[in-house]
Amino acid sequence: MSIIIDGKASAARLRERIAAYTADLKAQHGVTPGLATVLVGNDPASEVYVRNKRKTAEALGFKSVHVGLPADVAQDELLRQVRALSADATVHGILVQLPLPKHLDEAAVLDALDPAKDVDALTPTNAGLLLSGRAHLVSCTPAGVMLLLKEYVGDIAGKEALVIGRSLLFGKPAAQLLLAANATVTMAHSRSRDLPALARRADILVAAIGKPEFVKADWIKPGAVVIDVGINRVEAEGGKTKLVGDVAYDEAAKVAGAITPVPGGVGAMTIVCLMHNTLIAACARNGLPLPQQL
Ligand code: GUN
Repeated sequence: MSIIIDGKASAARLRERIAAYTADLKAQHGVTPGLATVLVGNDPASEVYVRNKRKTAEALGFKSVHVGLPADVAQDELLRQVRALSADATVHGILVQLPLPKHLDEAAVLDALDPAKDVDALTPTNAGLLLSGRAHLVSCTPAGVMLLLKEYVGDIAGKEALVIGRSLLFGKPAAQLLLAANATVTMAHSRSRDLPALARRADILVAAIGKPEFVKADWIKPGAVVIDVGINRVEAEGGKTKLVGDVAYDEAAKVAGAITPVPGGVGAMTIVCLMHNTLIAACARNGLPLPQQL
């Protein structure tokens, strides 16, 4: 059986350190980190994510601002709201929950975001800084994955890493971070040929495809570290639903050396890394040293 990577426990420890740092920041410098969330429409999953982000921010003593807009909001109104948050000195981080309804132009919304407040690191400025090895703000889920790898694997130099999925929010930044940590990185996606064969080479297999239990046990190199970024809601017994990842967990756990569960793996780290980014943005804004290694 493999080691179960306990993201929930790692996230709880990081959260404690962020809480302590925030208390010091307030007491010594009078700075309260501020996080704004923007949610368009009422997709139930997005509502849950945003509510959890707001609750965590408040529990850490951050200022939390929420802008909820109807699903049919006009592009101009959304841009006006994002620009107002970009100009608000009490807001250090802005998160526009994605995906946006189809009639809205996501790129234009990101262009209205002050890159210094882009705590999702989705703007071209922050993507470019990551590519240049100079990023302060790194996308939250990839950052969480790297913290788990650091804790459970240590040095990953020279290891074969496969990232399945090439999104702006996860796959692309994850590949950059793995590369910066000296892994040999392959990026795969829906058009890749023979995914199972690519996967079998990987010492670190990262699945971010959005397809429930897509990665099977016979794709996994024995002893590999399996990082499951998927969160898929599927039907369970008794007409209920349950969350599963992109990896067929029960069978994969028999082959992998270590594996993240869903829930309780990567997802638990994401929100805490968002708070870490907000803290970094607040320090940068006030000319204070950045809390890099909490
Ligand atoms: N939708 C799903 N995950 C995320 C996330 O981490 N950030 C944003 N903005 N939207 C998301």
